[in-house]
Amino acid sequence: MDVKSILAKMSIEEKIDLCCGADFWHSVAFEKYGLPAITVADGPHGLRFQYGESDMLGIHNSVPATCFPTAAATGCSWDIDLLKEIGSAIAEEAQTNGVDAILGPGLNIKRSPLCGRNFEYFSEDPYLTGQLGAAFVLGIQENGVSACLKHFAANSQEYKRFSSNGHVDERTLREIYLSGFEKAVDLGKPSMIMSAYDKINGIYCSDNKWLLTDVLRDEWGFDGIVVTDWGGMHSRVAGFKSGCDWSMPGGGTTHLQRSALKAYQLGELSEHEINKCAKRMVNRILLATANRQCSKEFDKDAHYQMALKAATESAVLLKNDSILPLSVDSVAVIGYMAKNPRYQGSGSSHINPTKLTSLCDAVPDWFYAEGCDQLGNTNEYLLEQAKEAARKSKICVVVAGLPESYESEGFDRNDMKMPNGHIRMIDIVANVNPNTVVVLLCGSPVETPWIDKVKAVIYMGLPGQAGGEAIFDLLTGKANPSGKLPETWPLHYEDAPCAEYYGSPHRDAQYREGIYVGYRYYETATVPVRFPFGYGLSYTRFEYSDLYIEGMNVHVTIKNCGKVDGAEIAQLYVTPPKPGIHRPDKELRGFCKVFLKSGESKEVTFILNERSFAVWEDGWKVQKGKYEIKIASSVRDARLSQIIEINGIEVPVSHWQDGSWYASPKDYPPKEDFEKMLGHLVHAPEPLRKGNFTDENTIAEMAEYSFFVRIVKNAMIKAISKDNGGKPDYNNPTFRMTYASSVDAALFNLAISSCGAMPVNVAYGILEIANGHFFNGIRLLVKKDR
Ligand code: BGC
Repeated sequence: MDVKSILAKMSIEEKIDLCCGADFWHSVAFEKYGLPAITVADGPHGLRFQYGESDMLGIHNSVPATCFPTAAATGCSWDIDLLKEIGSAIAEEAQTNGVDAILGPGLNIKRSPLCGRNFEYFSEDPYLTGQLGAAFVLGIQENGVSACLKHFAANSQEYKRFSSNGHVDERTLREIYLSGFEKAVDLGKPSMIMSAYDKINGIYCSDNKWLLTDVLRDEWGFDGIVVTDWGGMHSRVAGFKSGCDWSMPGGGTTHLQRSALKAYQLGELSEHEINKCAKRMVNRILLATANRQCSKEFDKDAHYQMALKAATESAVLLKNDSILPLSVDSVAVIGYMAKNPRYQGSGSSHINPTKLTSLCDAVPDWFYAEGCDQLGNTNEYLLEQAKEAARKSKICVVVAGLPESYESEGFDRNDMKMPNGHIRMIDIVANVNPNTVVVLLCGSPVETPWIDKVKAVIYMGLPGQAGGEAIFDLLTGKANPSGKLPETWPLHYEDAPCAEYYGSPHRDAQYREGIYVGYRYYETATVPVRFPFGYGLSYTRFEYSDLYIEGMNVHVTIKNCGKVDGAEIAQLYVTPPKPGIHRPDKELRGFCKVFLKSGESKEVTFILNERSFAVWEDGWKVQKGKYEIKIASSVRDARLSQIIEINGIEVPVSHWQDGSWYASPKDYPPKEDFEKMLGHLVHAPEPLRKGNFTDENTIAEMAEYSFFVRIVKNAMIKAISKDNGGKPDYNNPTFRMTYASSVDAALFNLAISSCGAMPVNVAYGILEIANGHFFNGIRLLVKKDR
């Protein structure tokens, strides 16, 4: 049967059911119409497919799969072919397991170094994000599996992720938070996109017609389905109207179906609105199932080798005072993570790897000392052992970074610091032996107060299951580092423009810095940084020459002038004409990774287009004038440049621009300037107090004001800590994630959107009691589902 005939046969109830899931990972099957269920599973760093108990936080086990480096690492590769290969390999594993769609890649922008989920995202730059995302999608989909971009959109913090409201102007959305998705839709043609949990300017993403229909479908031409983030359907009725096709997970959400049916019966939701979503669902299910391949085993060893290649090509050499590659055998390896690597992040992208190699596995005959545990706990004995190992060897490699409990889905970091014990371990070792190399395992930038004491630093991100072997190859020169940072490493967190108002305790997200995210701010405000965007060293040297521009094509020749083979990532930045509409000093508009043998040179070409010069001012507009094209090795290391004249228009400058923070950004943007840019005042959310609570508040918030809710809170904490004898363990990422997704999740999310985590009447009964209406609350609590 074709789409039209299937739809003609389906009742309105069946269509609504189809647009809600069957369970955690499946759509509802309608065998009588020849419509099977499709199966989805998490990505994006490998397949997280669960047969048994299911969850959205990576708590229960999943099938063994190759754990590729996280996006925090692969983002450093700037390698489109590599991302395509990884996507293709994950899709092969999906086919083996009968999975039709992979929930990835994650394309949110790294707005602050503290976002707990930065390890799942590629970059602070939307152009790089979009290019890498598109390649990953193409890789997945060429193997007959659907890819799903997530989390659409502006979901750049974990704090209050289920309910936070992003105050953001349209230019910032278009230029920064949407354009990576736009590029990936354009180049990758993904079959699915996941709406984010949060609100943009007061409207939940799942309810947001402007976002999901006007922009995504009508402007960008997206023709796949929109699925909610898990438990992220705010209103099924609004979702049908906005173009949010599929509410997931299903199973315990019959109230969503009921609300839609009721709205239909009352004439508030039309058959046409339901049909549009149902049609897209039927279409996608038929296409997805037609692409199924006979499942065959995938080649575990070949995929391990691919994970190794990805980890190696993603590593960034941050410092090297002529010590690497190592030329001696007398090496001590120090740090718990050398034996027990942190190689992936916590949460829904958590993979059950087919194999895991630590640095110690790769080099069993180097001395090893633990120094401190993952959390940084140490004692005199461990430190003495570390010193001893450092004294005995010519060179020390310290493996340090961030523990799992510091960065995860569900919560953000408190600061940019490494645990004290890791810092102490580096200090002590470097004091004893100045030939110290630090290998960092972490999913986002850290402050490095110890940097001057050590001779070299390699950043591995979270490098996946083959990370240990990759570190060994890089240290010894079997591989030449070629990664570059896709995000700025500020000297201190306080230097980030959003540091004053990002995340906890601010329940809403004010995007006051506007378009000045990452290097767009640091470059324009000329703030010193630890490592600039696009930065990374190599064991060889590259020279740039012969820049010439023909129309929109920019050509340059790159030569490997060193003694070893290597790859360079050349970057193209555009500097706009001044004066005029305020703009960042430099914006990345092209990049190219080129492998060159020692002595070899190649001409590379960057292709620009109108968008390379455009700003969003009520539409994409190109300011006429002289632009500088810079070819650079990092955003702070331009090697060649040329001015070009671009035809365009006189883009109007807003009346508030002159004298505002945006005209010359420096330090933190004042709220008044932000409000002027937005054109309205930004009100703080209602203060937390009895009488003010709504279903967007959390049990944790209400417990501060109500004895009854305190009892509920304690009972919930006990329940989520049952594996730890009922005692909360704040160093355990699973506990913290579960806490954030239950005790500190918006009530409506617990009750309405998630699959029955809390019965609706119980949630609203608790809300009444928290607001001081005890008897009303009790009435609701004992009532049947509302
Ligand atoms: C995450 C998504 C994930 C989904 C399913 C959510 O909590 O935000 O990225 O795909 O769970 O596990």
